[in-house]
Amino acid sequence: MYNNNPTLEGIGNIDESKQGDVFYKEQMESDSNGKQFYIESYGCQMNFSDSEIVASILSDIGFNPTKNAENADLILINTCSIREKAEDTVRQRLRVFDKMKNNRPGTLVGVLGCMAERLKAKLLDQEKLVDLVVGPDAYRDLPKLVASASDGDKGINVILSREETYADISPLRLDSNGVCAFISIMRGCDNMCSFCVVPFTRGRERSRNAFSIVAEATDLFEKGYREVTLLGQNVDSYKWENPETKEVITFAKLMIMVAEIHPDLRIRFSTSHPKDITDDVLYAIRDYENICKYIHLPVQSGNSRVLKLMNRTYDREWYKNKIDRIYEIIPDCAVSSDIISGFCTETEAEHQDSLSIIEYSNYSMSYMFYYSERPGTLAARKYEDDIPLEIKKRRLTEVIRLQNQISYNHNQKDIGKTFKVLIEGDSKKSDQEFKGRNSQNKMIVFPKKEHLKAGDYVMVKVNSASSATLRGELI
Ligand code: 5AD
Ligand code: SF4
Repeated sequence: MYNNNPTLEGIGNIDESKQGDVFYKEQMESDSNGKQFYIESYGCQMNFSDSEIVASILSDIGFNPTKNAENADLILINTCSIREKAEDTVRQRLRVFDKMKNNRPGTLVGVLGCMAERLKAKLLDQEKLVDLVVGPDAYRDLPKLVASASDGDKGINVILSREETYADISPLRLDSNGVCAFISIMRGCDNMCSFCVVPFTRGRERSRNAFSIVAEATDLFEKGYREVTLLGQNVDSYKWENPETKEVITFAKLMIMVAEIHPDLRIRFSTSHPKDITDDVLYAIRDYENICKYIHLPVQSGNSRVLKLMNRTYDREWYKNKIDRIYEIIPDCAVSSDIISGFCTETEAEHQDSLSIIEYSNYSMSYMFYYSERPGTLAARKYEDDIPLEIKKRRLTEVIRLQNQISYNHNQKDIGKTFKVLIEGDSKKSDQEFKGRNSQNKMIVFPKKEHLKAGDYVMVKVNSASSATLRGELI
């Protein structure tokens, strides 16, 4: 899930407070070198998770995190290339950081993540705003790169790996509510959807050692966390072979291993590819109360011809059957989606197919975007980006309007129902209210009661609902 654009370029009814998030921790006692780093993250949850790995690597060499970029010796920006707009935002931020350097000479600025991988040395040579360029598979090299950048050399490593999963690195949970955490279970993507730059920026798909995932989740649970989200570009193709027993762990098996750590540890996962989600995964969701009844299943388009151009490998009927299967096996499951409007050659009738599949699938919410051509992708090489911007925007507006209506109706149906909610903390608007989510990933806000705290499970009866939030009371 990507959440870098609160504009018409792409909208989901998501927690926008996560944008450009800053990781911070109280001064650590360990061998500090007195230096501070500041890190800002854009894009998908995987980037936020990677920033925690980066923070861990930097803290090992004595850097402390700071919330304030102006105090930092090292400013890092973990970037996203998924749409042009995301890259524009990063360029703006780099100019702001460049100005800060004038007041604090010696400060290093580094670009991490997908833009580092896509633009490589161009970031150092042409734009001259940065000292470090580090791709998603090269974070272990950061200590060396920071040292050489401090000596006045430019630090760059954008080598992609077929093996790197950072399995042994314990992420530093810096901007955490102490209840929910991300666990990266795989990296890269082999799917080659024609619109998508990710296979180029994050490289080949590889799955992380299952035991290291279970160990990380167990450790989190013991520290008081109550929800883990298993992250990957395509979690359903997770596959790890135990080198000793040769047993193959699939995603369904992995989820069960994590679910069995403790019934009070909730499991979420993202993202699923419709072609790879199996009945075994659906049965695991059905059978384990602590595996959340929520699937993010991006459709991208509701039209079979467009899906073929997108190289999604399923068609409209196939997707609809998958939706039927989900609701058949898990009747109370919520499903959400990603939708792209105005992909190359999309006609009005084909756009209508996207609208009707939203209705058919009854998504609880969607992340919605208009198509943004990315250099180097299959679509950029093969198809003309021929839908005028105004038409893309108009179609996107129609998609958003319909999805908002469907989300509203979906939420209205929850009025009167009682849900088990994991308290995440104070609501955005009031410290007299808690917020938390139900299994279906819906945010529920309700008045506080004494003795309750973040990390507790409570039963909440829903009294009212908008398209984005449910409100209720403790019972
Ligand atoms: N243009 C618009 N949206 C895109 N996405 C991926 N690439 C593009 C692009 N070039 C969307 C897809 C994907 C989500 C993460 O971002 O919907 O599922
Ligand atoms: Fe991109 Fe498709 Fe891979 Fe998702 S599954 S990261 S959309 S190529």
